[in-house]
Amino acid sequence: MSQHPRWYYNEFKQTGIDYTDLKEVQAYDLRMQKLRDIENEANSIRKLLNIKNTDAVLEIGTGTGELALKLSAHCRKVVAIDVSRTMINFAKVKAENQKEAKIQFHNAGFLTYDYCDEPFDAVVTQLALHHLPDYWKMMALRRVYRMLKEGGKFYLRDVVFPSMIQDYDSYFDEIVTQLKKSVGNEIAKETETHIREEFSTLDWIMEGLLKSVGFHIESVKSDGFMACYLCKK
Ligand SMILES: C[S@@+](CC[C@H](N)C(=O)[O-])C[C@H]1O[C@@H](n2cnc3c(N)ncnc32)[C@H](O)[C@@H]1O
Repeated sequence: MSQHPRWYYNEFKQTGIDYTDLKEVQAYDLRMQKLRDIENEANSIRKLLNIKNTDAVLEIGTGTGELALKLSAHCRKVVAIDVSRTMINFAKVKAENQKEAKIQFHNAGFLTYDYCDEPFDAVVTQLALHHLPDYWKMMALRRVYRMLKEGGKFYLRDVVFPSMIQDYDSYFDEIVTQLKKSVGNEIAKETETHIREEFSTLDWIMEGLLKSVGFHIESVKSDGFMACYLCKK
């Protein structure tokens, strides 16, 4: 990995939830297995990105590796990276248990991963970019853009706040209250931490950042505060 100047952002320092804590990682994995239909998520991402069995795919912020595992069955190779070594080790064990050898795991992130062998056909990231403040999001997106082949696709899914809200206090209170009712206290508490300490940005800023680095946004889907962007280089 290359040396960075002292002013460079330390993306390995955890913001919000500490994903270097094994207990957090195990709990996260269990929660996600319960709450999400990962098979379905992976299938729709694969179709959106038109992933082929000759493709090389990069997943940034892989977490416990669920998406990387599902995608690896449909492409030539997946490089899965995360700034949390605990997450990477957890995902590696999962891949080994499933005898999946097509995934290369690296303990690195948006701002530090040095790709050296080939540009990617597709880059995917879910629920990870909000860990960076906006200026560093732009730097991260520039790096994603550079790592893609010409015509390559970028799929970004993250918490992005709508900008047309009159009263943000009531808006966030309502989100937390609804989550308590629908999925319980733990996720509601995690969401409070997210709003307070992590760096989710506003929709117009995210679109501006994507366009400013050169991406063509092919589609945006937003479901309240969860947004998905399909972009092309
Ligand atoms: C909420 S989890 C999402 C994990 C997985 N993508 C998913 O959808 O379940 C956020 C992940 O992003 C990772 N992360 C945080 N900052 C990052 C960065 N700068 N680069 C890469 N990964 C990062 C965290 O370590 C954590 O594993």
